[in-house]
Amino acid sequence: MFIQGLRKVLPQRFKRAIREYLQTLTRLQSEAGGNAGPPPLWIHQTRPLLPPLPSVAQLLQNSDEEYVRSGVLDLSPYLEETAQREVLRKLSQDEIKQFVKADPYPLPAPEDREGYHGDQHVRYWISGLGDYVLFRALLLEQQVKLSAPFSLLDLGCASGRVLRHFATHESGLQVYGADINRTYVMWVNAHLPRSIQCFQNTILPSLPFGDNTLDFVYGCSVFTHIDDYESAWLLEIRRVLKPGGFAFMTIHSDRTWKDMHGDHFMYKYFLTAPHAIEDLGIPQVTPEVFAGDMPADRVVLTHTGYPINNTNVFHTIAYIRENWGRFFKICKIVPKAHGGQQDGILLLKE
Ligand SMILES: C[S@@+](CC[C@H](N)C(=O)[O-])C[C@H]1O[C@@H](n2cnc3c(N)ncnc32)[C@H](O)[C@@H]1O
Repeated sequence: MFIQGLRKVLPQRFKRAIREYLQTLTRLQSEAGGNAGPPPLWIHQTRPLLPPLPSVAQLLQNSDEEYVRSGVLDLSPYLEETAQREVLRKLSQDEIKQFVKADPYPLPAPEDREGYHGDQHVRYWISGLGDYVLFRALLLEQQVKLSAPFSLLDLGCASGRVLRHFATHESGLQVYGADINRTYVMWVNAHLPRSIQCFQNTILPSLPFGDNTLDFVYGCSVFTHIDDYESAWLLEIRRVLKPGGFAFMTIHSDRTWKDMHGDHFMYKYFLTAPHAIEDLGIPQVTPEVFAGDMPADRVVLTHTGYPINNTNVFHTIAYIRENWGRFFKICKIVPKAHGGQQDGILLLKE
């Protein structure tokens, strides 16, 4: 009799406890502005991959892009004022042909490559080649040759704009790619050489490598989007690099800031899309914000319409020397290392 009574009462008490718990949770969430949950840690795939484009060799057959002359890559019109210009200039037509031949893999559609180079597909391929030859030259200056055993990580690789060149023009390297965006990881796995090991990471600084395992880590326009956990990311990169290993990261610097006025595409973007500088209490940026020097040594512009990958970060070179210099030896600052806008920082783990 007593046991039967308990059987009736307990489920009712249990249900009531759950109901009260859910009511409390709802109240706490509404007090927190409806957003009591954690921010997203990665970007899920939101649509199927688009069909890829042909390989660069196939595109060269009938491209009307301005630097292709009857199937031959004439790089001269591409030679914008960037750090890649010097190294690309030195390539012979034979070397370029070899690079083209070595990469029979498809190119991503513009929507699957962060919009890099719009519908100029050959140019997209050349831009990755330029980064690869630049990094190779920078490492060589430091007496580091790309020969096995050598392992590298492209942090924030997207669909492998640069990574594909390391995987196709070098042999015996261990090539890793990581991105918070799952679509890109799927693209690399679906279309680029199987030797590339690509994985999705999170915005939290944690990489699936042991201590002292990699020779080189690079990130093209990635620290320009890392707002929180910047120092922890630098320490994580230092942890996985071997002593004597190098990192190369591009940043928006105070030079970039000075250039942002008038018709500059970034200036126009920040003023048309909703952007705040939360650290400085600026809810919406105005032209006055860009009128003088950077208002702080590190400025984070946040696109208030997005929850993740929504920041553009600017660092003064003085800030980099002072703060990044605590974790690494700063070997070189390379102006215009990612388009004309970003400078590159070559870092050594001592
Ligand atoms: C501007 S895109 C540059 C893509 C590529 N590095 C290139 O140069 O073509 C920035 C990339 O970094 C990724 N990203 C942003 N924060 C990241 C993080 N904490 N870890 C890994 N990837 C990140 C983004 O998803 C995006 O693919």
